[in-house]
Amino acid sequence: MKIGIDKLGFFTPDLYVDMTELAHARNEDPNKYLIGIGQEKMAVIPPTQDVVTMAANAAKTILTDKDKEQIDLVIFATESGIDNSKASAVYLARLLGLNADIRAIELKQACYGATAGIQLAQEHVALFPEHKVLVIGADIARYGLRTPGEPTQGGGAVAVLIGADPKMLALDRKSAYYTRDIMDFWRPLGKTEAMVDGKYSSNIYLEFLEHVWTSYTQKTGLKIKDFDAVLFHLPYTKMGLKGLRQLIADADPVSAVRLAQEFEHARKFNRLVGNLYTGSLYLSLLSLLQNSEQLSAGARIGLFSYGSGAEAEFYAGVLQASFKEGLMGMDYEQVLQQRRKVSVAEYEELFNKQLYNTETKLLDYHADAASFVLAGVKGYQRQYLEH
Ligand code: CAA
Repeated sequence: MKIGIDKLGFFTPDLYVDMTELAHARNEDPNKYLIGIGQEKMAVIPPTQDVVTMAANAAKTILTDKDKEQIDLVIFATESGIDNSKASAVYLARLLGLNADIRAIELKQACYGATAGIQLAQEHVALFPEHKVLVIGADIARYGLRTPGEPTQGGGAVAVLIGADPKMLALDRKSAYYTRDIMDFWRPLGKTEAMVDGKYSSNIYLEFLEHVWTSYTQKTGLKIKDFDAVLFHLPYTKMGLKGLRQLIADADPVSAVRLAQEFEHARKFNRLVGNLYTGSLYLSLLSLLQNSEQLSAGARIGLFSYGSGAEAEFYAGVLQASFKEGLMGMDYEQVLQQRRKVSVAEYEELFNKQLYNTETKLLDYHADAASFVLAGVKGYQRQYLEH
């Protein structure tokens, strides 16, 4: 039985800051951001959006009533959680109108979380093929204003529906994974911005890639020439390019050119959104599937997932004939183009307005065109609604 990705949905708020303008404001050469980091625009998250609303907005684009009946497990991967006890998945299930006879949990391991969710979901579907699992990767990437990490912020959510006989990508059973306790990036309780040893994290990313790729090739016998595309976790798109260069260093020229071309399709949307942490790899998959003109059924796609702290996995899947249908007719190029550009001053103001649970405040959410919004916090309780 084939098990894998049946549908993919994505949401990011309708605001962005232009990286050339941000570079000017920070006295940097714009090419450092555009080429050196590989980012063109960066999503700006208004206080009326958080991981729960972004996940609900992403899932809404893909779920039919039939899907909702079949889902009996929701796995919400995030490292921007809103509560230490209650899972974001419980709020999400209510907002989406899912059955009450489900399991709904939150899962954490930095940017690797959604991959863990997808792997666990596959095992669930193998046991119960009549059911589907909704996996979410939703985050707000925050390093702080005027920090080296600032141009690698962003945010949004990806909703991945896992099921039997998937429309999009049938996942291979064998994969390679690796965990080591290191401090390259972390988000200690009580801090609203990430702590990061930036250069070290980039080096560790490549070291983990080397490790899981070697282990993967030993386990499966597959080589780089067997792949039609390879996707990477994209904290910033230059990071993925470094990963790709490492993988294709010894590849034959035909494979190297093919993988480099597909990588450009795969990083197109990430260049315009920034880091989604848990969702980044899956936004890259969505970008590839919407933008590539070469890929067809039977193509083998490799996925490298990395989460600081640190954990990595390399796995793969085979593209299915109806893969375009899994995007449910969404035109993400247009969605991203229709966003409103905010000035650097407005971005800074919105950055400082993010709402935490310790304050009681009602928000004016009417300017936010998304279906699901955060209307405020009352008595330490977040107020979500659909409008
Ligand atoms: N034209 C073209 N390129 C330029 C340039 C110019 N005018 N000026 C600089 N560059 C290049 C540099 O040569 C450099 O390229 P290389 O990486 O290929 O050497 C690149 O632009 C970045 O320049 P710096 O190294 O000087 O940048 P920096 O020190 O200010 O910060 C960073 C870069 C460390 C990535 C920082 O943005 C950061 O800390 N980001 C957050 C951490 C991160 O994303 N880590 C990734 C791995 S961890 C992970 O993947 C999990 C996760 O999601 C966080």
